[in-house]
Amino acid sequence: MEGNPRNRKDLLPLFDISKIDNNEKVIQRLLVKYFVKDMNEWENVNADLVITDPPFGIEFSGKNGNYHRNVNNVVDGYVEWKVTEYGEKIHQLLEVIKRNLKPDGQALIFSGWNHSNIIHNEILKFDGLTLRGKMYWIYNFAPVCRQRTSHNVYEIYWVTKGDRWTFNSRCNTHHCQQGEPNLSTLIFKRDYKVNMPKYPTRLPFGLIQCLLEHFSNEKDLVFDPLCGSGMVGVVSHILGRDFIMGDLNENGRIVFKHLLDYYHKKGLVKVQKLMRLWKMVGAEGIEPTTSSASRKRSPTELRAL
Ligand SMILES: C[S@@+](CC[C@H](N)C(=O)[O-])C[C@H]1O[C@@H](n2cnc3c(N)ncnc32)[C@H](O)[C@@H]1O
Repeated sequence: MEGNPRNRKDLLPLFDISKIDNNEKVIQRLLVKYFVKDMNEWENVNADLVITDPPFGIEFSGKNGNYHRNVNNVVDGYVEWKVTEYGEKIHQLLEVIKRNLKPDGQALIFSGWNHSNIIHNEILKFDGLTLRGKMYWIYNFAPVCRQRTSHNVYEIYWVTKGDRWTFNSRCNTHHCQQGEPNLSTLIFKRDYKVNMPKYPTRLPFGLIQCLLEHFSNEKDLVFDPLCGSGMVGVVSHILGRDFIMGDLNENGRIVFKHLLDYYHKKGLVKVQKLMRLWKMVGAEGIEPTTSSASRKRSPTELRAL
């Protein structure tokens, strides 16, 4: 990658589950960092990193029948953007990012393929943020499309406010623990949670972890003005970052509460076990055994968990 990183670390420590406090008071303290408000209302957050995923501008409701899920579990209230207003909305989002970042802060902006050209052009025209690169997130399924090929890739635009930024060359996910790390293609499966309310476009834990560990340090402040389920905040907290975020959809906060409960209990244990397994595979090139299942699993199988 080009540029002038503020600092680098080659290997990050695994987080320590015993330090994650699971009492209800902690969860209440985290819930108040989720604000039900319009992105344009944010001022002076002074964030180190923005991770945000704008609406797609495709009349998406999350309840569309061509997605592989039970729509009854999907919460209502997702606010979509019209195609005719998409450029203006993205411009507003860039203003929000610029006025809420530290001078050496940076942002990662997700984009579906449909209006990626609009996002790209708005960033290039915008005064005060510099486009530094683009990554691709490859996920495990695409909507069922009978007429044409389907897409299972998102683009992630990387922009910085100034000429200095944070970049760590290694992360703790399979992305860096198996094979050659590169930040072109990030292959992460969506992680479904059974018997929980669902947010239509929730990002998976591993993908956010990968981005956070590469583009921020512990104690950094992470901001998402379009946070939906609040998954960016969940992973930030677990990885020792502070966070603040918002969405117009008050139902997002309900999903956020369920996710906090989940990750403070069994989910977190599972995530850490996986990271240890990836480290074993990466370091020794062996197929690991799990103590619970006591059988060999291939790297491909691990990615599927
Ligand atoms: C693609 S979703 C974000 C999903 C999120 N990354 C997650 O992991 O759950 C985009 C979100 O932007 C919200 N939104 C749309 N316009 C908004 C606005 N002006 N201010 C705040 N949120 C808005 C939508 O309600 C939706 O939840």
